[in-house]
Amino acid sequence: EDLAHPPSYPWRHRGFFASFDCGALRRGLQVYREVCSTCHSLERIRWRELVGVTHTKEEVKDMAKEVEITDGPNQEGEMFERPSKLFDKLPSPYSNIQQGRAANGGAYPPDLSLMVKARHEGHDYVMALLTGYMDPPAGKIIMEGRHYNPYFPGGIISMPPPLQDDGVEYEDGTVASIAQQARDVAQFLNWAAEPESDERKKNAALHMSALIFMALGAGYSKRVGWASRK
Ligand code: HEM
Repeated sequence: EDLAHPPSYPWRHRGFFASFDCGALRRGLQVYREVCSTCHSLERIRWRELVGVTHTKEEVKDMAKEVEITDGPNQEGEMFERPSKLFDKLPSPYSNIQQGRAANGGAYPPDLSLMVKARHEGHDYVMALLTGYMDPPAGKIIMEGRHYNPYFPGGIISMPPPLQDDGVEYEDGTVASIAQQARDVAQFLNWAAEPESDERKKNAALHMSALIFMALGAGYSKRVGWASRK
């Protein structure tokens, strides 16, 4: 099979001192919520993890509140519906795998929480996949409900091209081309696979600068110390 390898895109979050771009993460969450979440879940993420990353606490509370979830059993042993709270998980579109398959011509849309980790060069893969739909090579037969995409293993995927130019409207005025939405949602999914990594990079940077100041301070006091003893 003649398959394409995803290019290596110049992501800003790749370097040691780089952290995620909050504008991109905020836009990426919007693409996830408005487009991907109709078919995919992101079940390892809880609303509260978005606080301070994509939105403020109040904004996340408001988003969560709009989503009714089933809780229980209560004291009477009954299940009940209630609005989501910060500690709840983001909602899943289907209640089980059979339902997910039935809605997608037999293919199950996988949970996206760890997608960029599960696939080799995962964020490049997501970016390439979302922008990589094209006409099949001459003579290749694609069944109804399937699509040609050279980045998907085997080249034929059951996910219809999910993005359209201006398919979402970004509040920060960024032009919502397919490539822009793909870049934003790929970064968001990359963050989602490792929400704690931003913290770790920040801590490591603080730690390093503390060490440098201590070293400078030690050098200075040593010189001053020696001088006074002359
Ligand atoms: C598969 C991401 C929107 C249905 C996939 C895969 C990725 C992905 C990365 C490949 C998984 C793998 O390598 O195993 C996304 C993103 C979306 C999106 C980021 C939003 C921008 C949608 C929508 C639908 C959908 C809206 C339903 C209409 C599926 C299905 C599969 C799939 C059925 C399985 C394909 C197969 O096994 O042939 N998606 N998706 N996706 N997606 Fe999506």
